[in-house]
Amino acid sequence: TYVITQGCIDVRDRACVDECPVDCIYAGSRMLYIHPDECVDCGACEPVCPVEAIFYEDDLPSDQAAYLKVNAEVFADHGTPGGSVKLTDALTDHPIVAAVPPGVP
Ligand code: F3S
Ligand code: F3S
Repeated sequence: TYVITQGCIDVRDRACVDECPVDCIYAGSRMLYIHPDECVDCGACEPVCPVEAIFYEDDLPSDQAAYLKVNAEVFADHGTPGGSVKLTDALTDHPIVAAVPPGVP
């Protein structure tokens, strides 16, 4: 899977959303998250992020390794919606994301 990391926090550019062929990039309040079971590893999102916040899981910088779990765990109560347009509940930011002070990323 591809993974969105800390750089997205409070940026939320959304260029990635427009590229994803399976609509598996979902919005929280402070950042967006890629559903690991829905991402088909096409890689289209990675080069368009203006803050280079998206990485393939094997290429995650060591200081961003926690975001593999962050992107997965945020969907714990949502299963596999099958596309962000089908997720009617608001996605609550992961606690690690919510704890990042404003202005840090
Ligand atoms: Fe979509 Fe990016 Fe995966 S465009 S399918 S989230 S690699
Ligand atoms: Fe975030 Fe970059 Fe997408 S800032 S919303 S991961 S284009």
